[in-house]
Amino acid sequence: MKPSIIVHGGAWDIPDVLVEPHERGCELAATAGHDLLLAGGSAVDAVVEAVAIMEDDSTFDAGVGSVLNQSGQVELDAIVMDGKSLRSGAVAAIQFVRNPVRIARNIMERTNHSMLVGDGALDFAVKEGFERCTIEDLLVGRELEDYREFMRTGVMGTKRHFSGVGDTVGACAIDREGHVACATSTGGIPRKPAGRVGDSPLVGCGAYADDGVGAVSATGWGEQIMAVVMSKTTIDIKRTVSDPITACKNAIAVLKERVDGFGGVIMVDIHGKVGYCHSTPRMAFAFVEGVSSERRVSTSM
Ligand code: GLY
Repeated sequence: MKPSIIVHGGAWDIPDVLVEPHERGCELAATAGHDLLLAGGSAVDAVVEAVAIMEDDSTFDAGVGSVLNQSGQVELDAIVMDGKSLRSGAVAAIQFVRNPVRIARNIMERTNHSMLVGDGALDFAVKEGFERCTIEDLLVGRELEDYREFMRTGVMGTKRHFSGVGDTVGACAIDREGHVACATSTGGIPRKPAGRVGDSPLVGCGAYADDGVGAVSATGWGEQIMAVVMSKTTIDIKRTVSDPITACKNAIAVLKERVDGFGGVIMVDIHGKVGYCHSTPRMAFAFVEGVSSERRVSTSM
């Protein structure tokens, strides 16, 4: 079948000045992932590559450019899920790595476990040959400023605060064999306490993939997304509707109705159709839908 991919670069009140870098970053990631799929790469290959590209782009709150926590640390969370096997791999609160999504993949493919956290995750990464980086390698001026502001004011991150800052990247893909996969990566919410882990690395919350239905990645305030198990909820809704856009809309409605939450969700179904919806002012996303006759990268805010 013709492969499809959709990526997101966070759902929040993205200011006008940041629209262009968000669109460009999403387009680059979607195009690179789609190139891999066209070359015969697997859905897992495509989502990991797409997310790693966004982790390397300091525009986004993932990898380089991630937020600082209250202790001045950069703690990263990421997950990969393979819809064929229902296997997933995840890291949480890991420091000193550039591409947590690649470490998550190694956990999925090279261990019998699904999640490693903190120093244990870093030890695993180093043993697997991943280079340890410094906090300076991940830090950008924007986040250092925000941390200094936190030190001055002591104001914690709140849902209200969150509507004005960055969040999370993700990707969903279907390959030529008809297998689906998804990946999600984040620096988490700004000014979070040390050790806080949100939805992103949790299977069913930040991501879910099932070859019987499709693949989903979510973005938003993690505690609310966890409460409604957002990604698995979107998959379950998709079983009852034909259109992935409707499935995403209904899932966002559940987030609002059950926990007064806001956020965004993307999906690809097993026919290669993509879905997306957000209740935040903006969500950065881009996709290449295999069902269309020609390759067209669509981006939107
Ligand atoms: N959605 C990212 C987080 O809450 O950590």
